Amino acid sequence: MGKEVNVAVFASGGGSNFQSLIDKMEEGKLHVNLAVLVGNNSKAKAFERAHNYNVPTLHIAPSHFEDENVYTKKLLSELESRNIDLIVLAGYMKMIPKAMVQKYHNRIINIHPALLPSFGGVGMYGKRVHQAVLDYGAKVSGITVHFVDEEYDRGPIILQETAKVLDGDDADSLAARVLKVEHGNYWRAVEAFAQGTIRVEGGKVIGTV
Ligand code: GRF
Repeated sequence: MGKEVNVAVFASGGGSNFQSLIDKMEEGKLHVNLAVLVGNNSKAKAFERAHNYNVPTLHIAPSHFEDENVYTKKLLSELESRNIDLIVLAGYMKMIPKAMVQKYHNRIINIHPALLPSFGGVGMYGKRVHQAVLDYGAKVSGITVHFVDEEYDRGPIILQETAKVLDGDDADSLAARVLKVEHGNYWRAVEAFAQGTIRVEGGKVIGTV
């Protein structure tokens, strides 16, 4: 067995995706060390979930610092001190500093609740994504797990799975169906990274998830 991969999960809200990773670890399917839960909002349910499972937490937000540089330095030093190998974004609503994206090149993954490159980009988050899918009349939506680069919702795709759009769906019902697919699959990308079965070549992900 190789060295266990140290994961930092970043979450701002409910953290149900974070919970799904914990659950898969408990089921023995995901083999990583959840080294820290990072969040900008200490009242977020994600923090409660971390406490319940003894995952260390870090509450840090740009507004705690006099400027972006100081914030970024502190964030990077916190990640370094924990020897973080992989950063998993799970409903994290703050901009990831550019220096962090560069330093953790192809080591930050995000989940988007639609099939990119459709229904992604600036302003496409939460219910807006699902409303846009419905407004367009798409018959299929889904999830995309991808490495993060310097643009929103871009970067090499690790996995995608579909979810049906049904007649009579509203943004909530579609969101709920898509969220189930997220929970069933995000861990697979994390495990593939941890086991070293994927790599990025020519801007694309190669290998097995
Ligand atoms: C998910 O829909 C995810 O795709 C998006 O943010 C939402 C987070 O939900 N990036 P949760 O906090 O994991 O419940």
